[in-house]
Amino acid sequence: MEIALTVDGAEKLLTVDVRTTLLDALRERLGNTSAKKGCDHGQCGACTVLLDGRRVNSCLVLAVTAQGAQVITSDGLAAGGEPHPLHRAFVEFDAFQCGYCTPGQICSAAGMLAEAGAGWPSAVTDDLVAGMADLTDEEIRERMSGNLCRCAAYANIVPAIRAAAREPAASAANPGAPSGARGGPCR
Ligand code: FES
Ligand code: FES
Repeated sequence: MEIALTVDGAEKLLTVDVRTTLLDALRERLGNTSAKKGCDHGQCGACTVLLDGRRVNSCLVLAVTAQGAQVITSDGLAAGGEPHPLHRAFVEFDAFQCGYCTPGQICSAAGMLAEAGAGWPSAVTDDLVAGMADLTDEEIRERMSGNLCRCAAYANIVPAIRAAAREPAASAANPGAPSGARGGPCR
């Protein structure tokens, strides 16, 4: 089946078997290896990309269902070659070791900051009506719990995300992100 995708800002046309995952379409068909294959079963988050602004595990998405969608990988968040605030924060806080999980962590964090900024509660948000008051470390850990790091760099990943959250551009460079923001997620 022929499908059209916009990947990191570039339009792509490709023919895929209907069983092909978005992750395999990106890596094996388009040569975009930013998203990583960890478990291939939706359990590690290494394959996370932004699909029309929402974070998804691309190993669980069939490429044909992404017809016409905008896909952004961690590479694509570096608009014009400029590092995204999350990229800079991960370097500054030494938030990785082998780096295999990092592109997924970055995409997931970008999606998460947009969700938090739009007032979406998490499982640890106390007041579901008033929403989250602060993007605490507990909130960051819960909202990032789908992204595993086998090097256990969590102690630096959390402060990196907390620092990046103070920059409005951290969630702004995310077309299609949830709207209805109640102000920045980190106050
Ligand atoms: S490779 Fe997709 S969640 Fe692990
Ligand atoms: S930095 Fe190695 S898996 Fe996360």
